[in-house]
Amino acid sequence: MEIHVYRDRDAIGQAAAAVFAAQVLAKPHSVLGLATGSTPLATYDALAQMCARGEVDFRHVCTFNLDEYIGLGRQDAQSYYRFMEENLFRKINIAPCNCHVPNGLAEDIDAECAAYDDAIERAGGIDLQFLGIGHDGHIGFNEPDESFSKGTHLAHLSRMTIEANRRFFASAEEVPRTAISMGIGSIMKARAVVLVVYGEDKAEITARALQGPVTPRVPGSILQFHPRCTVMLDEAAASRL
Ligand code: F6R
Repeated sequence: MEIHVYRDRDAIGQAAAAVFAAQVLAKPHSVLGLATGSTPLATYDALAQMCARGEVDFRHVCTFNLDEYIGLGRQDAQSYYRFMEENLFRKINIAPCNCHVPNGLAEDIDAECAAYDDAIERAGGIDLQFLGIGHDGHIGFNEPDESFSKGTHLAHLSRMTIEANRRFFASAEEVPRTAISMGIGSIMKARAVVLVVYGEDKAEITARALQGPVTPRVPGSILQFHPRCTVMLDEAAASRL
């Protein structure tokens, strides 16, 4: 695990975008694993600017997002599909048919999860996965548990995650309680991973995930075992290391 500390969120965004752009330049048909939430926004902005300047070309790139809320459709204002459209897909030259987000309205969730894992396999596996981390140590929607999850599955959001994500909804009651999420096994299969964390409020979980015991009680701690994991922190998030 390589840990880099940056001045602030924008500096991380530039640095993480450079890693993703380098991946796409080296392999135009790259398969990228993407995340939603606040963490990737600076990276997505930087990638959109690089694309507008002609520095990176997403024409052949294929993406798979980590997760989607169950019960929300693509056009729901709070769906992760919509988030991705607004914050990245519409701003870069990627083909919409190459952008994959689990279908939160699938009638058969287990079949949707299996089909998602199959689609990742058929695409050749994820080359580079972007990750944020929750205050309880979750990555994707893999919440603290007794064991590490394997493939894409139906995930239950923890109370802490519902509280953290209510900022995107009118009230905590409106935050869906379940989601489809890639598993820890799916994330660990990615050839390379970039974990981005910023803010003082995540300093403690960052230290536990990066330097504490590897345990499913802190799902992100599994990244200590990933052979190619780059961690990008701002000074506040790194303050308890
Ligand atoms: C998002 C995801 C989550 C977030 C995490 C941090 O697709 O899978 O694990 O990365 O909840 O969220 P933010 O970035 O909003 O603090």
